[in-house]
Amino acid sequence: MTEERKVSDSIVETVHLIRPNHMNAAGRLFGGMLMQWLDEVAGLVAKRHTRSNVITASVDNLRFIHGAYDGEMVVIIGKATYVGNTSMEVRVDTYVENLKDGMRHPINRAYFTMVALDENDRPKRVPRLILETEAEKGEWEAAEKRRQMRMQRKAEGF
Ligand SMILES: CC(C)(COP(=O)(O)OP(=O)(O)OC[C@H]1O[C@@H](n2cnc3c(N)ncnc32)[C@H](O)[C@@H]1OP(=O)(O)O)[C@@H](O)C(=O)NCCC(=O)NCCS
Repeated sequence: MTEERKVSDSIVETVHLIRPNHMNAAGRLFGGMLMQWLDEVAGLVAKRHTRSNVITASVDNLRFIHGAYDGEMVVIIGKATYVGNTSMEVRVDTYVENLKDGMRHPINRAYFTMVALDENDRPKRVPRLILETEAEKGEWEAAEKRRQMRMQRKAEGF
């Protein structure tokens, strides 16, 4: 039987409290720190979905919408949006959560392409993705367009 999992089976949410050692010289959350946290979340989503080792093949649409500051709470949510043959796309959204009212304000969104590896470190087939909601179907269609653009960029070498 073909292996398949729901989007909800592999969702990952992490929370970080921004501390002085996370800051850059401009007094904001260092972008490189955030990128590490995003990559970890994307990797965990892909590991949960594939139940195997994974690597990051590419990251795109990494968009810093707002800064984040010392003492703020950062929430990162990753979910599978698309599966190809040996790769899958993971959308990672980042929010600052207001400690008083619990409201979450988006500060970043990124799309990671993760590749599953077999025991010989070769790309291996990933389980199919079960789409249960209209939002998940919409994400899949958008991911197909992003995949086409990635493949075009790769083919043209930029
Ligand atoms: C990612 C990697 C395995 C792709 O190698 P490759 O020879 O192009 O392998 P394939 O052609 O078999 O592609 C494997 C999958 O990756 C996808 N892929 C390859 N290059 C890609 C790119 N630039 N962007 C997005 N996806 C890409 C392919 O579409 C394919 O997916 P599919 O099977 O779902 O269609 C290889 O480039 C690699 O090992 N890179 C290093 C990754 C790494 O070490 N990451 C850690 C952070 S440094």
